[in-house]
Amino acid sequence: MSVRTKVIAGNWKLNKDVHQTEELLTGLKISLTFDLKGVRVIVCPPFTSLETANRCTKGSVMSLGAQNMYHEDEGAFTGEISPKMLKSVGCEYVILGHSERRQIFGETDELINKKVKKAIASGLVPIVCVGETLDQREKNVTSQIVTTQVRGVLKDISAEQVQKIIVAYEPVWAIGTGRNATPQQAEEVHLLIRTLLAELYTPAAAGDVIIQYGGSVKPDNAAELLWQPNVDGALVGGACLKADSFSAIIKAAVR
Ligand code: 13P
Repeated sequence: MSVRTKVIAGNWKLNKDVHQTEELLTGLKISLTFDLKGVRVIVCPPFTSLETANRCTKGSVMSLGAQNMYHEDEGAFTGEISPKMLKSVGCEYVILGHSERRQIFGETDELINKKVKKAIASGLVPIVCVGETLDQREKNVTSQIVTTQVRGVLKDISAEQVQKIIVAYEPVWAIGTGRNATPQQAEEVHLLIRTLLAELYTPAAAGDVIIQYGGSVKPDNAAELLWQPNVDGALVGGACLKADSFSAIIKAAVR
């Protein structure tokens, strides 16, 4: 069995201006002086802070990601940002298909699939989000929903390419609610995703894919979630906005 690195990413969402970005990243650099033992740390500030974040994270243990992108390099797409632009400000990762993008901005699996393909072709690592709503969980259709989303966002992606992506399982009912999935609930869906990847590709390829959990990850629940067999990291919202809570979650990922 492959040993997967733990990956902790902070999704800042619509928070922090340029000054606050500098402040948070300075705090994080001070906090992250312990031995990370290979744990990967990614920060995903809003677009307007990426250049500042690039400067502030240079030479640090933090890598940079964006929260969205469009699937074209340039052209008449008012308000959009291209992978090429993200790379020019030092991004290595990009969150795609977050449930807030799906629910508020109407993104579909088909659109997200285009973005995933473009991100890979552009040399960015996509962090692709899937997850069921509360209503869907209560109707016992979690596995169908997650299966459809994973199949949809990975359409026409090869076994070689799939190993370059990160999947984030984010149950919508756990996002920003303070109600995290239990470690058992998370593990159950992560195992389902890995089994599906093994079916769609090969067990070896599936074994290499990082599957993060996201949804109310906090310093006091991080360790039990992060040490489930198929949980390879966390996509953190609220708790990544303060240096002490984000670094405490990172610490929980370090064995
Ligand atoms: P919270 O950690 O605030 O629940 O947000 C999770 C999330 O949506 C990360 O992408």
